[in-house]
Amino acid sequence: MSTEVWFAPGRANLMGEHTDYNEGFVLPFALAQGVTATATARADGLLALRSKQKPDDPVTVSLDALAPGAVNGSAPGSAPGAVNGYAPGSVPGWAAYPAGVAWALRAAGFDISGASIDIDSDLPVGAGVSSSAALECSVALALCSLSGLSVPREQLALIAKRAENEFVGAPTGIIDQSAALLCQEGHAMLLDCGTLARTQVPFRPSAAGAVALIIDTRVTHALVSGEYAARRTECEEAARLLGVPALGLVADAGAVEALADPVLRRRARHVITDSARARSIASALQRDGDRGEGAGRGDAGGGRRGEGAGSGDAGGGRDGEGVETYRYVGGLLTEGHVSLRDDFEVSWPQADAAVDVAIGSGAYGAKMIGGGFGGSVLALIPVEREATVRSLLSETFSERGWTAPEFLDAVPSPAARRLGHADR
Ligand code: GLA
Repeated sequence: MSTEVWFAPGRANLMGEHTDYNEGFVLPFALAQGVTATATARADGLLALRSKQKPDDPVTVSLDALAPGAVNGSAPGSAPGAVNGYAPGSVPGWAAYPAGVAWALRAAGFDISGASIDIDSDLPVGAGVSSSAALECSVALALCSLSGLSVPREQLALIAKRAENEFVGAPTGIIDQSAALLCQEGHAMLLDCGTLARTQVPFRPSAAGAVALIIDTRVTHALVSGEYAARRTECEEAARLLGVPALGLVADAGAVEALADPVLRRRARHVITDSARARSIASALQRDGDRGEGAGRGDAGGGRRGEGAGSGDAGGGRDGEGVETYRYVGGLLTEGHVSLRDDFEVSWPQADAAVDVAIGSGAYGAKMIGGGFGGSVLALIPVEREATVRSLLSETFSERGWTAPEFLDAVPSPAARRLGHADR
């Protein structure tokens, strides 16, 4: 029997929230923290799932009960679509993610074997750092490896997303799985969620004397809850009224004035401006990286649809060049947060307070990351201000009677990788 050990990282997103399912741009980077799946092949067609974080909740399912043909039928006495209790929506809790991946791999025609899989994670759950995609992707890679399958990572991202959409029932976009599988160390990845074209741009805050800090506000969110889906529906409605296939394809934020409904106008404005901000940050980081290398590689915007790559200017000359770039990026982070708070209305009090306190104590900028209604804030901070930012945040949360925030270093790290392999 062979054993495979695979790790997939969580992610933070510099810009482009709720733009992925609107075919706009996103700019995530992979974290050092993530999920490890240790998988041993088994010949009985079962998938036995255990998690160190959920010791009382092991789940064993039969792969055949997850078969693509079975999930469209219905078993007597069960919910529509359920067969042997293991159809979409029926595998309980955390195990739905790995079981969904096995289902989606088989639905895509990949003949995977049964496996015993042990999960371990150092990512907080429900904190907006994509622990679910890290779980899906580590399991997807482990299952493929055990069965000797080499599936292109772009395809694996779509398979893992399908698991989340159709098996778990969360109508999410493609950013999280793409980040876990395709990011590069020391880079953020500009992804065009319409075409799936991607560009890696240098992102090394430490080289500019800065740190990227994740502030977990300890308010947890769930993407299967109704608000995420409601935002998605509003965006689709706004696109329909504007006569475009998706809001991310609109370049001119002024176009939203054609929408009579003020709520839809705000939602559309957020998506269009956040997507533009993602491109602006990518261009600034690319220019900064080029200057650092003394090369002139041009912009990172990809030139899609003939737009300019970014509206802003990173400013600064060679001296203190990195500092100016990161100050500029920080300013855009804060703009992004204001847009999520006021136009998209997915922020929450602890996130707004964290952004204000971080900026007030010296951060270049900060924004909530992920789907919203709970989770984390990402702040870009000059290294000499980091300790102050942390302590003022803890103080503010305590004064307001909120659970103390937790902090994670957000170091741009490599994508998913194999940690080990053994044949027994
Ligand atoms: C969650 C979803 C993503 C994306 C973000 C918001 O993380 O999983 O697909 O929509 O929210 O940017």
